[in-house]
Amino acid sequence: MHRPAEDLIEREDQLGTLGELLSAAVAGSGQTAVLSGASGNGKSVLLDRMRSLAGEVGTDVTTAIAACTEQSLPLGVIGQLAGAAGLLTSHAPEPAGAATSVAGLLDAAMSRDWDLAQDASFPPSSAKILHGLCMAFLRGIERRPMMLCIDDVHHADPFSMQFLSYLSRRVRATRLLMVLTDLPQLSPAHPAQYVELLHSSTPIVLTVPPLTRAGVADMVRRLPPPVDPGLAGHVHALTGGNPRLTAALVEDVLRRVEGPPAVGRPVAGEAFIEAVRTCLLRSQPHALPIARALAVTGGTAEVPVLAQLLSISEEMVDWGLLALHRVGLLPGHAFRDPRVQAAVLAGMPVRERAELHRRLAVLGPGGGEPADIVARHLVDAQDVEGAPGSRRPLGPPPARDQSMPG
Ligand SMILES: Nc1ncnc2c1ncn2[C@@H]1O[C@H](COP(=O)(O)OP(=O)(O)OP(=O)(O)O)[C@@H](O)[C@H]1O
Ligand SMILES: [Mg+2]
Repeated sequence: MHRPAEDLIEREDQLGTLGELLSAAVAGSGQTAVLSGASGNGKSVLLDRMRSLAGEVGTDVTTAIAACTEQSLPLGVIGQLAGAAGLLTSHAPEPAGAATSVAGLLDAAMSRDWDLAQDASFPPSSAKILHGLCMAFLRGIERRPMMLCIDDVHHADPFSMQFLSYLSRRVRATRLLMVLTDLPQLSPAHPAQYVELLHSSTPIVLTVPPLTRAGVADMVRRLPPPVDPGLAGHVHALTGGNPRLTAALVEDVLRRVEGPPAVGRPVAGEAFIEAVRTCLLRSQPHALPIARALAVTGGTAEVPVLAQLLSISEEMVDWGLLALHRVGLLPGHAFRDPRVQAAVLAGMPVRERAELHRRLAVLGPGGGEPADIVARHLVDAQDVEGAPGSRRPLGPPPARDQSMPG
């Protein structure tokens, strides 16, 4: 559910600070800001809101979105920015020669046959490409202030990160405000350029936290009356205040309010399942498989068991668990609520679920599972695959209650 930007709840502080940074940049004192928050906490909608505000005060806004699928494209993010800033076309308003040089420099960088394993960063011989690009961007903002936005910068290719660090170290005396969004978690998988980007130029980090209980109540109040006064508390308990999960749950409640008369109490439905899946997919790389493995084990597996089950290191499991914790699904060592576990299972391919049951059974006593549990995993594996259709209406065992209290 995409909410109009003006409806943002509990983001006055971040918008206030960003507004001040923008005014300072317009006055010639540039800065880099990082909006940092777990998946679903609302970094992109906050960035959207800020882009609108900057546009309203006559600042040029240039945006790029980094994607993990494009991480192997050297300077892909910078190519997006250059295109959006009009630096690639001959009609660009920059001084004569600048457009050609940016296109040429990008072309030189992109067409080079980088050995990504070896050339994790620009070799010194190519530093002039980086410098030339940076100067072209800075020339581009001589005439008008600019806000450069990079959403999901943690997915940027290492070369783009290196470029952004370079630029970030030079923004102070310019009319440039750079706003980046990222996940609040460095992992060993991140390239050194990412660490450098976040730390070498001391950007201003603005945390984008989950909503408080009062914020969740604000969102719940958007439901048509009558609204159960206890509902906000239940929604907050189930989502941990993650705005994406909260908005989805409110949408599920709304569907039931608008649909045929609800039998029983409101449930965490399709929107919630989708939102949980989205948060998992968009968190650290191992968050999704770890959440699925945890859900299949019933939410009680130890780190070594998860590591064995997924054939990854225990360190990676720890990183994944931390991501689940940050996103609000796993406040301690177990899912926040059986409905979260149900949503994870419901968003999971049948084959993967059956395979996990089988692997758990094989781990069996070595994994610390008693024989009856091993047997249950084998039965579950057959059950899951034997269910009609590609998806069975997944969730915790049928005896469990999925309904929302209240
Ligand atoms: N402050 C807020 N007030 C109301 N709704 C919000 C707020 N923040 C986020 N939302 C809701 O949560 C959804 C997810 O927000 P958004 O996509 O910006 O999260 P994100 O932090 O960028 O997540 P990701 O890291 O996965 O990209 C929005 O579409 C919106 O419905
Ligand atoms: Mg986002």
